[in-house]
Amino acid sequence: MNASDARGLPIGVFDSGVGGLTVLKALREAMPHEDLVYLGDTARLPYGTKSPASISRYACQATALLQQRNIKLLVVACNTASAVALEALREQMDPLPVIGVVEPGASAAVAARPGARHLVLATEATVRLGAYREALLGLDAGATVTELACELLVSLAEEGWNDGSIAESIVLRYLSDLADDARHPESVILGCTHFPLLRDTFAAVFDDGVSIVDSASTTAAAANQLLTELSLANDENDTGDLVLLATDGATRFARVGGQFLGHDLGHDDIEVVDL
Ligand code: DGL
Repeated sequence: MNASDARGLPIGVFDSGVGGLTVLKALREAMPHEDLVYLGDTARLPYGTKSPASISRYACQATALLQQRNIKLLVVACNTASAVALEALREQMDPLPVIGVVEPGASAAVAARPGARHLVLATEATVRLGAYREALLGLDAGATVTELACELLVSLAEEGWNDGSIAESIVLRYLSDLADDARHPESVILGCTHFPLLRDTFAAVFDDGVSIVDSASTTAAAANQLLTELSLANDENDTGDLVLLATDGATRFARVGGQFLGHDLGHDDIEVVDL
């Protein structure tokens, strides 16, 4: 297929669940004319506590389903899957492009605060692989990086308990494991798709003036630029279609996903698929 035929194809986006909808929202804002197919692998969430072999297998299966929907670009809207499986997914999608969220998140943080003391909040798997450390130090050798796994914050965001005393106490409990310097970073990187929902809590807990960075808008900007460079951007003026797929629990996906997407979703807006 040539580039002009491929322009009208959708962008595929996947996450382990609803968290990647924060990235989907940014993609829609940056590229309102693009059709989007989003897959949340809710049946197997969380990825963050699983082994790299399982995460990789799940990510490849999710990608295969999106390939059947004829996507022109894959956005891996999950930090854990980006950290573990990006290379495998690039091979699987070849020659079509793949964008993860770790590189864009790291470059946003370095651009906001060169030479900073960064604290990366992420899942266990992302921290274990040191994906953000590698990306940050690759971009800025003068940076210092501490990575902290905060699994419980995924559940808090899923539950909608994003601010208030419970959320703040849990964040403070995680921070209490850190040395004093790391507890007072100049830059906090939200290295998990769910954490942008807790932004007010982070703003309350960290020192004034700290940069709080997430990957959503930088990933969307990177996707936009890549499609333009590859002559794959949709040149229609209509608003793009959105298809939402989940591997389990349409009702819960609609309830929680609506908070991430910023508008109400109904059970019927979600198609349940098997991988
Ligand atoms: N989407 C995952 C991430 O960004 C968080 C949820 C999970 O562990 O599956 O790392």
